[in-house]
Amino acid sequence: MKAIVCTRYGSPEDLELRDVEKPTPQDNEVLVKVHATSINDWDWCLARGKPFYIRLLCGLRNPTVTIPGAEVAGTVEAVGQNVNKFQVGDAVYGDLSESGFGGFAEYVSVHENALALKPANMPFVEAATIPHAAMLAIQSLRDKGHMRSGQKLLINGAGGGVGTLGVQIAKYMGATEVTGVDSASKLDLMRSVGFDHVIDYKQEDFTKNGQRYDLILDTKTNRSPFDYTRVLSPHGTYVTVGGATSRIFQAFFLGPLIRRLSTNHIRVTDLKPNKDLDYANQLFEAGQIKPVVDGPYKLSEVPEAIRYFGEGKHTGKVVISLQDENAAN
Ligand SMILES: NC(=O)c1ccc[n+]([C@@H]2O[C@H](COP(=O)([O-])OP(=O)(O)OC[C@H]3O[C@@H](n4cnc5c(N)ncnc54)[C@H](OP(=O)(O)O)[C@@H]3O)[C@@H](O)[C@H]2O)c1
Repeated sequence: MKAIVCTRYGSPEDLELRDVEKPTPQDNEVLVKVHATSINDWDWCLARGKPFYIRLLCGLRNPTVTIPGAEVAGTVEAVGQNVNKFQVGDAVYGDLSESGFGGFAEYVSVHENALALKPANMPFVEAATIPHAAMLAIQSLRDKGHMRSGQKLLINGAGGGVGTLGVQIAKYMGATEVTGVDSASKLDLMRSVGFDHVIDYKQEDFTKNGQRYDLILDTKTNRSPFDYTRVLSPHGTYVTVGGATSRIFQAFFLGPLIRRLSTNHIRVTDLKPNKDLDYANQLFEAGQIKPVVDGPYKLSEVPEAIRYFGEGKHTGKVVISLQDENAAN
């Protein structure tokens, strides 16, 4: 089978499309024929071996993860003898980031717990956008942000995967007003997915514009937690899903202190992969979320697609479709 292989840390351009052996499912595994996969921060970090913590997770000198790709949507081709959740032919999707990755390939064999059934009306290219970004948005808004109906929200880094789904989920949960912050080229698309107000971060600093928010969801944490508390309403909550490592540590360690000194909460989301896929299915089937697909691109274009993602040029989720490759087999 064809796969994108990573043999050393360097740059996305060091990844190669190669012929490798098709995997065989172990007892608790499902062999998935991949129809679509998507790019996320894991791939950008894994290809470069940066920041350093990625080497603690995926190999100190050389990557132990040889086929990157964390999110897949596809059909079940075979099942191990202890698998009872799925059968051959099922359409499935999921986040493989705690199951060894391997999504940038024609087939991947993965533990059954990393997958959920895909709704019939969800196209594979859209399904590949959901496992990671929707779980981050749902768990940040609901579990960390304790979002309530009637709240005023801001999403920073809003034009990517988490932000473009997050605004739709927040509206479903009853947000009255959602502001999105990103670069100028993404603002029109952000309005089209539901943001009531948009801010170009190169023109305006949302922490200094005098507005207050009940809940801030941040994918790009790049300021001190005290800058965020300045724009939180009394009892308001700031939730970070990612960004500069040093700033996330500050949020983690200063959060309890800020809680003692004020009525504000500062929280860090620790993703529970796949935990809320059933909830995402319900939202999709009810027409409450429509993913923003950048692409789709081909499997052979994964290195360029990771570079494009890492440089922040994308909007929504960068998707790779293997349906042409599959049709040829
Ligand atoms: N918490 C967890 O357990 C966990 C697990 C996995 C991943 N993550 C993190 O979750 C996040 C995923 O977010 P995502 O997929 O939505 O990211 P994304 O698709 O990269 O979107 C982020 C957006 O932020 C914009 N941006 C860049 N600099 C900015 C700034 N200074 N101010 C405002 N916006 C800025 C980017 O556009 P421009 O570049 O054009 O400006 C981009 O549109 C990542 O940070 C990832 O590391 C968290």
